[in-house]
Parts: sequence; structure tokens; C-alpha cells
Amino acid sequence: MSGILFVIGTGPGNPEQMTPEAHSAISASTDFFGYGPYLDRLHLGAHQLRHASDNREELERAGAALTMAAGGRKVCVVSGGDPGVFAMAAAVCEAIDTGPAEWRSVELVVVPGITAMLAVAARVGAPLGHDFCAISLSDNLKPWDIIEKRLALAAKAGFVIALYNPISKARPWQLGKALELLRTQLPLQTPVIFGRAVGRPDEQIAVKPLGDARADLADMATCIIVGSPETRIISGGGKPAIVYTPRSIAGGKR
Ligand SMILES: C[S@@+](CC[C@H](N)C(=O)[O-])C[C@H]1O[C@@H](n2cnc3c(N)ncnc32)[C@H](O)[C@@H]1O
Repeated sequence: MSGILFVIGTGPGNPEQMTPEAHSAISASTDFFGYGPYLDRLHLGAHQLRHASDNREELERAGAALTMAAGGRKVCVVSGGDPGVFAMAAAVCEAIDTGPAEWRSVELVVVPGITAMLAVAARVGAPLGHDFCAISLSDNLKPWDIIEKRLALAAKAGFVIALYNPISKARPWQLGKALELLRTQLPLQTPVIFGRAVGRPDEQIAVKPLGDARADLADMATCIIVGSPETRIISGGGKPAIVYTPRSIAGGKR
């Protein structure tokens, strides 16, 4: 008897940015797997069980959740932001791909959520208004030379770049190196947005030109958006600057 496995995202932190579909999945579930601070964002009933684990144990967590769902329980795996962006949905798929056959008969429901880069972008205007990409700066799951190659090619191709997992105690130098590399590819006045803990009480937003962007402006709760050469800043009116990337570039049909 197979159960169901929901994979949900809580959004970046503001409770209003968790979707109604995610709330319905929570109400329908009996068991919750996730990193403790993400589970703390849920208001669970007495009949709903928490199975908290460390943030680095994604594959083990996915396996434990699938085993329970395969046994007929209604299980919910919880990520921050969107569960498909550098998060648990891919870990669950990897576990199904390589795990026991019975995990394939579990009904898998991935519920989309609001990812950090969308919340950061909305705070300043519309920096993701034209083509963009997202790159994780973590070299835990991929080699650093691939990250450098992707950064250089994305910048050269004119993408706005959202940087996730920019820095941590175990990865102290990678962001500085990435900013150094981007300065060789982009104009030094390119706007860079540092969005920290967006949607939470300790939120901080800073906009700097690439020439002044420093790694110590970020921590592991920061998502950084590096503009393209088209990204612009509107200032004045006694209001914070608006950062946006126009929808068109020269040579388009209109
Ligand atoms: C493991 S990734 C998870 C991303 C998440 N699944 C999402 O869709 O936002 C963690 C990274 O997301 C970014 N992040 C998550 N929440 C954030 C927030 N409230 N404000 C800014 N960045 C955030 C940071 O770059 C952090 O290092």
C-alpha cells in the first residue's frame, strides 16, 4: 500500500509567500521531513509528526521520507523557497532513481513555491525583467572550475545572474573569487543586489556597483543578483533606487 509524498517550499521567509497549495499539502500530511528551521515555520497539529534533520543530509532524508510514504503514510518534505531550486525535490528524484523499486510506486507531488531570487528581485524593482540564470556558488556538489566557466559564459552572454549559496564558514573564498571574475567580464558600474534574509524580520537589501561589491556584504542567507550590461538604476523622488532590466535590447523587433 503506497502513500503520497508532497515536496513543498515555505517561500523565502515571509509567511504570506507560502502558497495556498503548500498549505493544503501540509493539512493533508501526517509526517514532516526537513531541516529543523524550515519545519519551525509550519504550524502543525498534535497528530502531525516532525522528523527534523541536519541541512546536509538531503539524500538520507529523502530516503527516510520515501520509505515512510511507501508504507502508506502521507508524507511532506519541506524546503525553503521553492522545493525544486537547489533543494529537496531533486534529492527526492535522485533517491527514487537509485533506490528500491517500491519507491517508484509512491505518488510524488512537487508543489512549487516562491524562490529567493524572485523575492529579492521584487524588493528592488525588476532586475529579472529580461533573460537571466541562477547559479549556486557551492562547490560541494560540483567542481569550482565548472562554476567559474558558467559565471564567465553567463556574463559574456548577457544574462542577469542570480547567485545562490554565495558564502559559508566552510566556503569563505568562493564569492570573492566569483566577484573578481565577474569584474573581468562586466562593466564596473553593473548593479549588484545583495538580498539578505528577505521576507524575514532581519532582512537587509543593499545595491552596489560591481566595482564596489564585496564578499563581506553577503552571508549564507543572502541571494545576490548581478545585473547585465542592460540593467539600470532609477533614483530620485526621495525613495530607494529602483533596479530593473528592460524587456528589450537594441536590435529586437520592438
Ligand atoms: C540551499 S539554497 C535553497 C534555495 C531555496 N530552495 C529557494 O528556492 O530559495 C539556500 C540559498 O537560498 C538563498 N536564500 C534562501 N532564502 C533566502 C532569503 N530569505 N533571502 C535571501 N536569500 C535566500 C540563499 O542564497 C541561500 O544560501
